[in-house]
Amino acid sequence: MARVVGSDLIEEARQRGRIVFELLPGDIVTDVARETAARIGIRLVDGPLEKPAVVQADGATTLRRVLHRRSPKWVAPSRAGSKTLRRYSKIAFVGSGGVGATVAHLAANADLADELVLIDIAPGLAAATALDLNHASGITGTRARCSGGESLSLVAGADVVVVTAGRARGPGMTRADLIDVNARVIRTAAEAIRSAAPQAIVIVVTNPLDEMTVEMLTATGFPRERVLGMAGTLDSARFRHALARAAGVNPADVQAITLGSHGEEMAPIPSLARIRGRSLQTFLTPEQIEACVTDAVMGGGQVVALKKSGSATLAPAHATMELLDHLRGARSGPVPVSVMLDGEYGLSGVVLGVPAHLGASGFISVEDLRLSEEEQAALHRAADAIRSRLGA
Ligand code: LAC
Repeated sequence: MARVVGSDLIEEARQRGRIVFELLPGDIVTDVARETAARIGIRLVDGPLEKPAVVQADGATTLRRVLHRRSPKWVAPSRAGSKTLRRYSKIAFVGSGGVGATVAHLAANADLADELVLIDIAPGLAAATALDLNHASGITGTRARCSGGESLSLVAGADVVVVTAGRARGPGMTRADLIDVNARVIRTAAEAIRSAAPQAIVIVVTNPLDEMTVEMLTATGFPRERVLGMAGTLDSARFRHALARAAGVNPADVQAITLGSHGEEMAPIPSLARIRGRSLQTFLTPEQIEACVTDAVMGGGQVVALKKSGSATLAPAHATMELLDHLRGARSGPVPVSVMLDGEYGLSGVVLGVPAHLGASGFISVEDLRLSEEEQAALHRAADAIRSRLGA
């Protein structure tokens, strides 16, 4: 039945926390309602809207719900996840610039390890940052002992090594421009890690990311499970931010991932992205979606252009923490990470960003998501580009 949509209905929608008001065929919308919607930031959208996909619960959750329905007095056992939360003995940071120091800061505040060791070739930088972090513990109360120095031998015995060392991009440079100079840095770090921290899981952040992850893998000789490249979490964060801005929702309302390379062949995945559980098309035009894809791909470059010297630090640090959280069991489910592929998505012998499960021993498995044909092709294009940059 047709409704007259007045400002009262719009106000009511706002009170229920809505930012979109669904108009059904035949609805009559008063001018005051349109003004109210514009004023309080509620979008009037022509419906009927696609219903959100049913949320699939895992077996344990379903069982818990069923048992609770039978007897609300039944108390669920505490979640298995909290028992498996790991705290590391030592995390080492090879490179203590903007990203390395910020990850160390976040790791200290999240109580990730007994010991955080910062390393940097710039004289005094790592020691100074470590001391600074120790001073902060007088306020934050964090337990981690921080120390720093210039020698790579400080990685000794680390459970996890986060490698950010290398040159950062300047304006106008692509990540690929750094390949030769940073490959040397990675090989030197890899040698120290292989001999002094042979059991470590290595997270590579140095650019060009996928190529440097290959270097690290080759130079350490570690299994693919223990050499991870951080890029997909960062690129996904940028994609989610762009979508949230465009749709006028909070970033937490957006689920979206970015796969492929951490470069021009990045592959944001709009087909699987959801805003408040609904497909992107419910909120955004194809042009807006395309602009969000471009923002994700160009986001790092935009920061470089503004800074003039150096690249982004804060979002990359949070994106590295996301991987650490998956490794220590604080987050679960697939997360975009660069790993050496062995047949997954039809690709082998190349490091590429794919959705993967991580755990105590590093990479566990790749999640086989159903991508559109165009997205699959984008992954293959990214793999070809990385192979050709490595001369493979
Ligand atoms: C970026 C750099 C860290 O994307 O690659 O910001």
